Amino acid sequence: MAEDSSNPFEKGIDPDTYHALFEEDFKTEDPWSFGTSKYEQTKYGRQIKVSKKYMPDPKKVLEISCAEGVYTEMLADEFKNAHITGIEISHSALERAEKRLEAYIKEGRIELTEGDITEEIYSLPENSSDLTFWSESIPYLNALITPVDIYNCIEQLHKVQKQGSHLVMANIIDQEGYPEGPITRKVLIDNIKSIISEFFEPVCERSYREFKVEENQEFDYEIWVFRKD
Ligand SMILES: C[S@@+](CC[C@H](N)C(=O)[O-])C[C@H]1O[C@@H](n2cnc3c(N)ncnc32)[C@H](O)[C@@H]1O
Repeated sequence: MAEDSSNPFEKGIDPDTYHALFEEDFKTEDPWSFGTSKYEQTKYGRQIKVSKKYMPDPKKVLEISCAEGVYTEMLADEFKNAHITGIEISHSALERAEKRLEAYIKEGRIELTEGDITEEIYSLPENSSDLTFWSESIPYLNALITPVDIYNCIEQLHKVQKQGSHLVMANIIDQEGYPEGPITRKVLIDNIKSIISEFFEPVCERSYREFKVEENQEFDYEIWVFRKD
């Protein structure tokens, strides 16, 4: 693909612009139709199903990039004994998540933090997560930080995970027709997968192709599960 100089995902993005891009996305409520799309709900369901196979009753769950809390709510309903920490960069998204999850937050079952995971990861306690979900967001780091910093971030995530814990991810591959396309190229996604595999044991990998009615388009995505041995 020829370089498109107007596309920030082609060239790397400074942190303020990166942050502003997501605030812009979340000017619209539920910009990816997380709460209503069959495609999104199926993807969440698949991740939950596979994670239950490996980690049926986690006590500590970390959700990186929890957006407006749609998936967070599903996780709270599935993992009844878990305390869930959600981290999200967009202020508007997090405000909506706080509203949606108010009852769980009051009960002390969910805690939300606003921040950029590439910084927040260094403040999270070590050995504190049984099960981490990082869905449809790590490829964005290709535009925000260097490959060395992605490596460092994953090394730190490994420290945050408990021994025997799991990491579950879903990532779209080769997304066509969207500004994010360049950061979803298979070779870059595979690069992220190899970095993760330096620290974690890959235990499951599945590929899907599915039609998203809201976008009138088919997408390919992969779901991965890694274990910290
Ligand atoms: C495509 S949405 C995916 C949301 C959700 N994880 C899911 O799977 O449906 C990407 C989310 O990642 C968040 N995000 C992107 N970069 C981030 C970062 N560096 N730190 C925290 N959140 C980030 C965005 O604000 C947005 O909510």
